[in-house]
Amino acid sequence: MRRLTFRRPDDWHVHFRDGAMMKAVVPYTARAFGRAIVMLNLTPPVTTAALAEAYRARILSCVPEGVSFTPLMTCYLTDHTDARDLVAGHKAGIFTAAKLYPAHATTNSAHGVTSVETIMPVLEAMAENGIPLLTHGEVTRPEVDIFDREARFAEEVLAPLLARLPGLRVVMEHITTEEGAALVRAHAGRMGATITPQHLLYNRNALFQGGLRPHMYCLPVLKREQHRLALRKAATGGETCFFLGTDTAPHLRHLKEADCGCAGVFSAPVALAAYLQVFAEENQLDAFEGFASLNGPAFYGLAPNEERVAYEERPARIAEEIEVGEAGRLVSLFSGEAAPWSEVSEKRT
Ligand code: DOR
Ligand code: ZN
Repeated sequence: MRRLTFRRPDDWHVHFRDGAMMKAVVPYTARAFGRAIVMLNLTPPVTTAALAEAYRARILSCVPEGVSFTPLMTCYLTDHTDARDLVAGHKAGIFTAAKLYPAHATTNSAHGVTSVETIMPVLEAMAENGIPLLTHGEVTRPEVDIFDREARFAEEVLAPLLARLPGLRVVMEHITTEEGAALVRAHAGRMGATITPQHLLYNRNALFQGGLRPHMYCLPVLKREQHRLALRKAATGGETCFFLGTDTAPHLRHLKEADCGCAGVFSAPVALAAYLQVFAEENQLDAFEGFASLNGPAFYGLAPNEERVAYEERPARIAEEIEVGEAGRLVSLFSGEAAPWSEVSEKRT
């Protein structure tokens, strides 16, 4: 049985939501990760430092006793973002970064940015003040095929923006294509990318395996095998510009198994096991700590976590469902199956 000890990892891309859902999901992330970059696409979105500070306090109230966990907040950019509030919020330690959702690209993005041109003064202020820009990197024009949206965003939006604002640091979130990985690599140093477990484990066939699979549906959508293989190489190859970001995105079961099902894979309970499986399959367990625990903090200018955790290749059965108060139930990645790796309990380390 293989075993691996590494610094406590961080998750550089999570969705916690609010209320009962937040209460149900925060403990999974907080137990496994030291810190997490929190997405603020709530309804309505969190667009000011004051709203972000209040939301951070609500998240902290859901962290189980005895668990040390730091939520890092992002500002949801809109066409009307106040650059002064963003910069002041960053200086005050409330905002770690700001997130660009192209309008209508994904869940709760109706208030997103209609064009990069509209927010150019905000982006200039971010470049000047060292505030990283996190992107949901997909164009939304209806004539662009959904499987091509990321590659087109990289070419049409991000590459020109990087040339125009050389001081801007950018994380391309949840990359799903070889084009995305190539752009990040070409700008390593000022650019990083998160990669989700589902995009490393599955290609787009998983959406249609024996029937329609709503729990495999997320955005950006799963891609062809060639892209999955390119992402595996990026994640496990020891390049410091790629780091762990699950994009764990909980939606109630009945809202995914619906006429118009929500996008998002809830992976928090099994995310580390899933990533470990990928690194083990690639025979790259030595590169795991870099991806999970070192590259992200280095990009954000933070120290890595000091605490060490140990995992072993011991399968653990994952519950079919997780209750979310009265509201409904959640289905996680690997639900009803076994997660291939488990944390070694303290008594056994
Ligand atoms: O699948 C996704 N779910 N992709 C996103 O970009 C948003 C997320 C969510 O908030 O549910
Ligand atoms: Zn996300």
